[in-house]
Amino acid sequence: MASFLTSKSFKPHVFPSVFLLVSFLLLLFYTLQRISSPSHTAPLRSRNAPATAAAAAEAEAEAEAQRLFLSLSAGANSTIAGHLRELTRNPHLAGTPSASTVAAYVLSQFRLAGLKTLTRDYSPLLSYPAAASLSLFSARGDLIKAFPLSEPADPESRTVPPYHAYSPSGSTLAPAVYVGYGREEEYGELDRMGVSVKGCVAVVRSGRGYRGAAVERAARKGATAVLMFGAGDGGGVERGMVMLRGVGDPLTPGWAAESGDGEVERLGFEDEELRRRFPTIPSMPVAVETAAEILRTLGGPPVPHEWKEGLGLELGGVGPGPTLVNFTYQEDRRLATIQNVFGVIMGHEEPDRLVILGNHRDAWTYGAVDPNSGTAAMLDVARRFGILMRSGWRPRRTIVLCSWDAEEFGMIGSTEWVEQNLGNLGFKAVAYLNVDCAVQGPGFFAGATPQIDDLLSEVTKQIKDPDLEHKSLYETWVAENGGISIERLARADSDFSAFLHHAGVSSVDMYFGKESPVYHTSLDSFIWMEKHGDPLFHRHVTLAEVWGLLGLRLADDAVLPFNYLSYAAQVQDHTSALGALLDDGISLQAINRSLLQLTAAAKEVQCAAEKLRKGKTEEDGLGELHRRAFNDRLVLAERGFLEEQGLKSRRWFKHVLYSPPEDYESKFSFFPGIADALSRRKKNSGIDVTKEVQHEVWRAARAIQRVASVLRGDIPWSS
Ligand SMILES: *[C@@H]1O[C@H](CO)[C@@H](O)[C@H](O)[C@H]1NC(C)=O
Ligand SMILES: *[C@@H]1O[C@H](CO)[C@@H](O)[C@H](O)[C@H]1NC(C)=O
Repeated sequence: MASFLTSKSFKPHVFPSVFLLVSFLLLLFYTLQRISSPSHTAPLRSRNAPATAAAAAEAEAEAEAQRLFLSLSAGANSTIAGHLRELTRNPHLAGTPSASTVAAYVLSQFRLAGLKTLTRDYSPLLSYPAAASLSLFSARGDLIKAFPLSEPADPESRTVPPYHAYSPSGSTLAPAVYVGYGREEEYGELDRMGVSVKGCVAVVRSGRGYRGAAVERAARKGATAVLMFGAGDGGGVERGMVMLRGVGDPLTPGWAAESGDGEVERLGFEDEELRRRFPTIPSMPVAVETAAEILRTLGGPPVPHEWKEGLGLELGGVGPGPTLVNFTYQEDRRLATIQNVFGVIMGHEEPDRLVILGNHRDAWTYGAVDPNSGTAAMLDVARRFGILMRSGWRPRRTIVLCSWDAEEFGMIGSTEWVEQNLGNLGFKAVAYLNVDCAVQGPGFFAGATPQIDDLLSEVTKQIKDPDLEHKSLYETWVAENGGISIERLARADSDFSAFLHHAGVSSVDMYFGKESPVYHTSLDSFIWMEKHGDPLFHRHVTLAEVWGLLGLRLADDAVLPFNYLSYAAQVQDHTSALGALLDDGISLQAINRSLLQLTAAAKEVQCAAEKLRKGKTEEDGLGELHRRAFNDRLVLAERGFLEEQGLKSRRWFKHVLYSPPEDYESKFSFFPGIADALSRRKKNSGIDVTKEVQHEVWRAARAIQRVASVLRGDIPWSS
């Protein structure tokens, strides 16, 4: 691993230092000249003809590689189905023996494709269920029922029993209260009914918001434990983790949980910051039948209509009691070994610039949707890249395929790797392309940082829709959403989090199907995928096409296909949306001023990129070096959004535009610092947050200014 990330920097040995100095001065001179005459366009001179011809040949070779890549779709659906069948033969929860089998399979497939392979192990804190019991007693203390805790859909219990990773151990004997989805609004309603969960077991319906947040809120309201259930079609029960406020190994926040002999610093369990990462009361997911049997015994005010919608259950009151729930849970919390697997194709011109494609491999159960539909697609991308290599193709930049472990425990594999390699990724990572669940149903969805929007459009125009003949993926994608709809990546729910939120690497996340009906249940198996998710595996193929083409463009385009005008327009939209929410006392002037700079810089860069693409600057003899410096500006501009100190009270999150907001109920998907300040006011109604919000506005404005400045690529030597 380290060997490729610290590999030779860009051919330094061919430049004696004097030459480097001269080059630098020439570049500086060139840059200054450009600044003084921005409209300067040198006419093409004959002596640059060879360079232009070379550029044309390069472009043709690139187009040929893309054609070849796409031509390899014939029969790919069967190949992908075969991979998925292998990957999902057994459950493969992170840190368990069968997880190693699946890791070995991915490694062998990368190798078979002809990629250079390596693995990276870590020892983070994982959490498994040791024991649990749940029973119901009458008010008089007679046992009504002891519930089985296995998943109805998995009578043989081949998968791990339903549990919440990082739930603390604990026991309670208390009346239950039904709290609906367990959000502030439902607790507000309970208040109005005069019902409190204090000292009670909160029974929560899942499906709106993050489960960990629901558990924490129940604890804050005084509940002693949480039982969670979903609609449970087909007897599935949703597993999941309940860690709070961040991603990655909780014991090594900001640095890697390296395994092996070397000593690694780990936080102790008494550490205040660490304690804030876990809920304080035990929780467990239960089958809908189990929840129903408990809920049906409750008295008290009647259950509001919306709380039972879609459940098909006859429910009486919200409680509390009069029955008593006896719930015990024992957690097995321990350091476990996890393994990231990599397949690498070294770039031939810029080996130290990395285009990173990633998918996690670990699953709560069989993982046919989550995440191995993505893994199967990635293995097909690897196969195609291998064939391209055997045809003589080498990418300009290095392509890294990453198969992450322990994502389900909080994006741990990817986060530890990013933390370990932050110094190098900081200037070497061009972009991160994530696919978690490749297919959970029909319809294409994408999220991205905005400078990649154009590329997503271009690539999806080249690809056929898997479900509609004679339509491009782009056409159906646009038709279904009434226009281009690209989500921004402010969620911390897949492996792009460390790349974008911590390292400021431009990112993409893609999938088919809005949501998975078998999410984290033992029904997430090959059979489900074959029957419902993607019967002919054509959506898998399409996803592999998009993923691979994005990778090829980013790895091969001489001038990176980033457009910052989309970024400026998007930030402008965010700012308008924010303005509509703020009080008179707060001014967005600072952001608006920075935005003018960003827009101007983005325009300038877009023009310069067009010229570079036409090869018009080759004549100065510095073509390659100049182009590289230009690309660096496009790549490093995203890092401008990083704030060294991070967000207040969550310093690991450093992206001041697209980190997740602290309040899990917040509707904000941008400007997290401002969102946090506003939700502090919401929590303590009446407190004046004007100053705090204004400070966060300034911080955002400075970040946007940094982005503009990196894009311009100049240090203003004279005023
Ligand atoms: C509650 O369950 C625990 C664990 O099964 C058991 O030890 C305890 O005796 C039970 N409490 C009652 C009142 O039955
Ligand atoms: C692959 O696609 C072809 C053509 O639609 C289809 O006949 C075949 O059954 C598919 N293979 C799998 C494994 O679904």
